[in-house]
Amino acid sequence: MKYTHHNNELTLKNLGEQVYLKGWVAKVRNLGALIFIDLRDRFGITQLVVKPEFKDYALAEKIRNEYVIEVQGVVIERESKNKNILTGEIEVEVTNLNIFSTAETTPIQITNETDALEETRLKYRYLDLRRPRAQKFLIQRHHIMQQVRSVLVRRGFYELETPMLGLSTPEGARDYLVPSRLYPGHFYALPQSPQMYKQLFMVAGFEKYFQFAKCFRDEDLRADRQPEFTQVDIEASFIDEEDIFELAEDIIKTTFKNVLNLDIPTPFLRMSYNEAMDKYGSDKPDMRFEMLLENYSFLAEKVPFFENEVVKGFVAKGAQNEFTRKRIDELTALVKKHHGKALAFVKKANNEYSGSIAKFLDDAIYDQLKLDNEDILFLVPGTYDNVSQSLGTLRIEVARQLGLIDENRYSFLWVVDWPLLEYSEDEGRFYAKHHPFTAAKDFNELKNNPKEALAKAYDVVLNGYELGGGSIRIHNQEDQALMFETLGFSKDDIRTKFGFFVDALKYGTPPHGGIALGFDRLVMLMTKTDNIKDVIAFPKTQSAKDQMTNAPGVVEQKQLNELKIKVGE
Ligand code: AMO
Repeated sequence: MKYTHHNNELTLKNLGEQVYLKGWVAKVRNLGALIFIDLRDRFGITQLVVKPEFKDYALAEKIRNEYVIEVQGVVIERESKNKNILTGEIEVEVTNLNIFSTAETTPIQITNETDALEETRLKYRYLDLRRPRAQKFLIQRHHIMQQVRSVLVRRGFYELETPMLGLSTPEGARDYLVPSRLYPGHFYALPQSPQMYKQLFMVAGFEKYFQFAKCFRDEDLRADRQPEFTQVDIEASFIDEEDIFELAEDIIKTTFKNVLNLDIPTPFLRMSYNEAMDKYGSDKPDMRFEMLLENYSFLAEKVPFFENEVVKGFVAKGAQNEFTRKRIDELTALVKKHHGKALAFVKKANNEYSGSIAKFLDDAIYDQLKLDNEDILFLVPGTYDNVSQSLGTLRIEVARQLGLIDENRYSFLWVVDWPLLEYSEDEGRFYAKHHPFTAAKDFNELKNNPKEALAKAYDVVLNGYELGGGSIRIHNQEDQALMFETLGFSKDDIRTKFGFFVDALKYGTPPHGGIALGFDRLVMLMTKTDNIKDVIAFPKTQSAKDQMTNAPGVVEQKQLNELKIKVGE
């Protein structure tokens, strides 16, 4: 290539050199005689200077922001140096200039910080992505992807692909459906994950598979969820849980070391699902701070509206002063939003107790609370599940408000010993807690006492986010049939929805298992943003819309006719 340098490279060492550069114009300052231009590429910025004697001075005067240009010039020392950028001590005196293309005023400023609305940024995502900060997220994504891939390839995994057009299967989230033209009234479904296909790779004998798999789920979106996302999808044969833990830890450790130069200690901590729910009120506990939940059900006898309820709570040490009535009202709303019945509190200051339930308590009870001066105890009554869930959310919010979370820490955890099934009281049926291919620790338990059956399943959690999940799978037909039956599928259902899969298990299936890491979440956490959209090139809005193309869009009647689809009101 004719270009000699990137825009982050030139320093005093290059003084006097003839260079050839290209890029976008980040800034122009016309000082009457001298014109200064900041030239930007994906690496950095180089300052150009156009002097009055330059042969094409008139052309240079036309340059505006975001024009794409190439220049030849000589490296000279700057008069006023900028210590903040790598090339801040030099500038390039332009001797030749070519304008590739002009640019209108951009609807968002191409600067690291922007106050443009997200809507505008996503509409002009290609301009948003020109901002160095936005670009950096995707460049890091690339580096992280290469590291993950290199570990898996080094360890003998094959990178294989699976179809996008598949069969809709029950369970899981809502599917994205694709109508079939050749079979009117029939639909493909986009994969929620390549779960069955990766197991079939094991049946086929590949032993070790991975893929950066696109997954599609039509579910309510949040800051860490997109309708279309990427998993590092992994499956291996003749392995057990320990092998998957060690593999995932290797991937994470290597990637953090080689991309961020951070040492992540392994093995990761492990905690049972029950302990996580009990102490943290969450199946993805944030381990960067304490404030563990404790049982205060002994208060149920004393406080009328705690009667017959489970009561749990946690103490925010030394923080009673931080929680004004107004703040507590806000926290109460949060608790209620997460199915908590109410939020009560007890404060201790100057050896005096106060709070919403103080009038029901006496000295003997206060002793049992074991509060120090300046402590505040938050309490929620209700069913065990609702109390845990709402306190889990409250615990994080209180920690955030008190600044207890060390944003520089990466705290990994395996959550293990999951229940295999979840019972829906409303529907009177079981659901698979992970998915219906997960092996039970003990299939007799599944048969005789399904509510208590544990799964060979695990989640890897990072700083309160579910980073990945997986399991050891069922590898024989009878166990798989038992699982489907327990989930309430009729023999007919099993045949039409999963027939091919149950069939496959007949012909010699190795024991196998795997995991899927949420790749976007991994990149999000490694780049320290809290918005998954930052690390996805062309993300959807919170309401699943592509702001740029306006997808989803209406289609022509002709297309609908071909598909034999009639759109209702
Ligand atoms: P699971 O459904 O737990 O498991 O998904 C694995 C990981 O994918 C990420 N993830 C998401 N990321 C962004 N947006 C979403 N909407 C979204 N949904 C999930 C999470 C999650 O931990 N087939 C199984 C894996 C296995 O058993 O091997 C599966 O898909 O980080």
